[in-house]
Amino acid sequence: MGEQIRQQGSGNQVVQQPHAGPSADTVRRWRSEAEFFDLISSQLREQASPLSQEEFDRYRKLRHPWLCKEYRVRMLGDLRGARLLDLGCGGGANSILFAKLGARVTGFDISPQSVDLATHRAKINGVARQAQFLCGSAEEISFADNSFDVVWGDGVLHHLIPVLDLVLGKASRWVRPGGRALFSEPVCLSATLRRLRRHVPVHTDATPDERPLQRAEMEIIRKHIPDLRLRWFNLLGRFNRFVLAHPLCYERSSLPRRVIANALGLADWGLLSLPGLGELGGTVAMSGTFAKK
Ligand SMILES: C[S@@+](CC[C@H](N)C(=O)[O-])C[C@H]1O[C@@H](n2cnc3c(N)ncnc32)[C@H](O)[C@@H]1O
Repeated sequence: MGEQIRQQGSGNQVVQQPHAGPSADTVRRWRSEAEFFDLISSQLREQASPLSQEEFDRYRKLRHPWLCKEYRVRMLGDLRGARLLDLGCGGGANSILFAKLGARVTGFDISPQSVDLATHRAKINGVARQAQFLCGSAEEISFADNSFDVVWGDGVLHHLIPVLDLVLGKASRWVRPGGRALFSEPVCLSATLRRLRRHVPVHTDATPDERPLQRAEMEIIRKHIPDLRLRWFNLLGRFNRFVLAHPLCYERSSLPRRVIANALGLADWGLLSLPGLGELGGTVAMSGTFAKK
């Protein structure tokens, strides 16, 4: 896969690192991740449409901070002119939003079809100049030091568990001093919940190598982002998979469904703020400043 890294667009300098070559297990993981997300993105390519004005307005106005993504976009602050890296950008939905909010976005992903979808979405949203996408693995791709003001990752770190320390070490060099991190990941810190989860027959689509983050991974993240701030989501919000239109889409859901999603979000916001209850959340939003070596 290392040889397959290709650059689409121009802008930030991409630096290939000399290395001894990935292990067979690493190559297997890359292949299975790429194949899994290639399939999803090639299906989505057919239906790709510009971001609706309604959805864009929601992220400009940010009136529902109890909904995880609105909370995270609010944490990003004013993006105008910011150099943002979308690590594991997938089909680029977040990147496009950030480009429309004024950021200069670079996204990369190991799945070529996802990068293709992201590039297509940038074109149909009129932000091809503000958002460029690269295909490569987080382990191998590199950028010049201080290339970014903020690194964003949505649901990607839990796909990188064996190389989390390596990847976050690289990301901390790619951001400028004072550069920020914003990640959101599935998490399960309680061993009891993990045991229970094994007995609950809820089907989730997942790659063989992903799993919710545990305490050891949270420590690695804190090592690179010492002022890490956590906000927990998705205790009752797990029911949104039955409430919102599928694939999970707030804007395409009816008003009563949106009201229920907000009620669940607000209940979680209150419950998961109580001492000791936060860790019952199934998703953690993490923000802070990268430590510079
Ligand atoms: C759950 S998806 C999230 C995608 C995107 N961030 C989003 O929110 O739509 C996880 C992404 O991580 C990417 N990924 C997995 N392993 C990777 C690796 N080693 N290097 C780069 N991307 C990787 C997958 O291809 C996939 O697009």
